[in-house]
Amino acid sequence: MPFYARTARVTPASMRSAILGVGHYVPTKVVTNDDLAKLMPTSDEWIQQRTGIKERRFIEHDGIGASDLALPAVKMALERAGRRPEDVDMILFATLSPDHNFPGSGCFLGDKLGLHGVPALDIRNQCSGFLYGLSVADAFVRAGTYKNVLVVGAEVHSTGIELNERGRDVAVLFGDGAGAALVGAAPSDDRGLLSIRLHADGAGAKELWLPAPASKHIPRLTHEMIERGDHFPKMNGKQVFRWATEKMPEVSRQVLAMAELDIDKVDLFVPHQANMRINQYVADKLGLAQDKVVHNIERYGNTTAATIPIGLSESVAEGRIKEGSTVLLAAFGSGFTWGAAVLKW
Ligand code: UT7
Repeated sequence: MPFYARTARVTPASMRSAILGVGHYVPTKVVTNDDLAKLMPTSDEWIQQRTGIKERRFIEHDGIGASDLALPAVKMALERAGRRPEDVDMILFATLSPDHNFPGSGCFLGDKLGLHGVPALDIRNQCSGFLYGLSVADAFVRAGTYKNVLVVGAEVHSTGIELNERGRDVAVLFGDGAGAALVGAAPSDDRGLLSIRLHADGAGAKELWLPAPASKHIPRLTHEMIERGDHFPKMNGKQVFRWATEKMPEVSRQVLAMAELDIDKVDLFVPHQANMRINQYVADKLGLAQDKVVHNIERYGNTTAATIPIGLSESVAEGRIKEGSTVLLAAFGSGFTWGAAVLKW
């Protein structure tokens, strides 16, 4: 028997958490594939064919951090949940591009929301960060520790990618953006988070990582590291692709089994947006119709911890997610980390 079957059960209806409201925000500056082709040898055709990306958003000017992008996303989530900032009693902030190395972006966001004294926890699980946050929020809510937990995913990638030939394999993939969800007690027995599962395997840590600055080096950052470009992300794209297309279907099946649901009961699949080809492949492998898969990578690129809450927020606005919808979430990324969840909206 696999270990998840031994340790996990569908959450009893009486103690479920739910996403009470979801919001998103992206910067106004649109950067097309043709814009990038002016900075490096790449093309609209190469990027679209391999990834599905047409454009992404970058912050408009210096001085805008992940917590700044998160603020309007949080305000939208709170408004949709019918809550005020002062109702929030815990902040979980998932990002791989925090405003500063420390303190966490959750602290900066709490200050911007006027939440002085409310605990704030940063989550460093990259593309799976939102799902890790959702799982922690679920545990806090079900334990009765906190009532209204903000789960934020926000990234400013544009200041950390190498916009030239050496960095082109990574640079064309990423964009800036934020999404947020307010998690609280499920409003009724038939709604809420039915199942969630997380995984990690550090054997893949260096397949997608940022080598420097690093506390294991004395000093943490040297001129040589900067010349080598160690302060830009490094990725073994083919290896990440291979793992993602294996692990995302596997963990999706785990959470569906935990929720005792067949794939045909899923109304919408909101996957992490790393590559449109990955998500189409995952849907095929699960036997899910392509029109049930949310794609916004063509407009935003990969916004890492923000992809899933942005996808949820847009789907709610478009009426693709309604009360009673069964929604499957799944992500895979750096760590390696991966996970999935099933929600009854
Ligand atoms: O959310 C984080 C998780 N990340 C992912 O899930 C990413 C998973 N991986 C992928 O999506 C794909 O591997 C990529 C889209 C990143 C790359 O696609 P690929 O088919 O694996 O391409 P490749 O890396 O094998 O590169 C093919 C060719 C190479 O040239 P040669 O060696 O065939 O002459 C690259 O140098 O394309 C070249 N290349 C580019 N050409 C134009 C690499 N980057 C670019 C570029 N523009 N931006």
